Amino acid sequence: MMARSIHIEAIQQKDRYLHSELLSKDELEEAMNLCVKQVEANLDYFKEKFPYSCTKQGQYPIIENIEWTDGFWTGMLWLCYEYTKDEKYRDLAMKNVASFSNRVKKRIELDHHDLGFLYSLSCVSAYKITGSELAKEAALLAADKLMERWQEKGEFLQAWGPKDSPEHYRFIIDCMMNIPLLYWASDISKNPRYAEVASLHFKTSCQYVIREDASAFHTFYMDYETGGPSHGATRQGYSDSSAWARGQAWGIYGIPLNVRYTHNMDHIPYFKGMLHYFLNRLPKDDVCYWDLIFTDGSNQSKDSSAAAIAVCGILEMLPFLKNDPDAQVYEHAGAVILRSLMQNYANKEIKPGQAILEHGVYSWHSGKGVDEGNIWGDYYYMEAIYRQLKQWNSYW
Ligand code: GLY
Repeated sequence: MMARSIHIEAIQQKDRYLHSELLSKDELEEAMNLCVKQVEANLDYFKEKFPYSCTKQGQYPIIENIEWTDGFWTGMLWLCYEYTKDEKYRDLAMKNVASFSNRVKKRIELDHHDLGFLYSLSCVSAYKITGSELAKEAALLAADKLMERWQEKGEFLQAWGPKDSPEHYRFIIDCMMNIPLLYWASDISKNPRYAEVASLHFKTSCQYVIREDASAFHTFYMDYETGGPSHGATRQGYSDSSAWARGQAWGIYGIPLNVRYTHNMDHIPYFKGMLHYFLNRLPKDDVCYWDLIFTDGSNQSKDSSAAAIAVCGILEMLPFLKNDPDAQVYEHAGAVILRSLMQNYANKEIKPGQAILEHGVYSWHSGKGVDEGNIWGDYYYMEAIYRQLKQWNSYW
């Protein structure tokens, strides 16, 4: 049973989606080949370093392995390796794995919850593809590090800040994407505690961070004294009461990942509610503005990355929806969004240091990466295409 019921809107453009074609193999291959070309151009540009989270005036600054986003680049290298079988991608990805191993052993910039974004894509992937023991060890250490964020009182993994501080006593919707690392760690180590924490955190998230109307808060505070629910708030969305597009997308992908690991189908209505809310607020070209409060004419920026994440979420959920009357609508809606990304947002001009997907928003309030590419947008766009071309053993 769902912990509580939420409102699931009817999908407004059902017929339009159903009348749109799914993506052909040719369309997918053409888009994937362009991605591979950009990654190839970026190999020599980043060398053994990493892209900054977003582009600045169209170009990725080069950084050390210190950001929450560095795993996305390595994940893209693994996708390129799996697609092309060209050893140059695997060689650089394995050098990245050594860097991630060093980072977790020395605990470099890891006092936050983003361990899944970092280590699922860089090291769980490496272990699955190559059997690397170094990658497995690093990913298990990362899972241990994530477990340190567990707050028993309130049953959640704290997103940011010191653990003994009321002002940081909160979790965020994004973390649904970090906890697959914990389920994986339980499977590999045979220690059930990681998975217990993951499913408790997931349950707390579904209970509080998803609103009754199926939109999401970005962050949710728990009461420091009692562990009970306090209030929702935003950090990267427009306002506390609006729906940050990427937060909504993190839920749309995070829920099916949790369903896959927990085999608990009772959470599917949360997915449906969140997805319908998202689809019903898409503008004319089917790619969301950075907050779902905005519509065409608002003069605001799109967040192409949120669109790519949502498509991956749809693709992840489809196998669990065999008897769902809306499954076909979701599949076609995913194709409509992805086709718009391919036609209107993918960078067609290959130059070293550039993004694959343009027009994302990292953080509007702090003016970071507004109407720029970002590395997770590049990654999820590639993932969405790749998983429709090949049988994919998910890195998540
Ligand atoms: N997880 C942080 C973000 O989506 O920007």
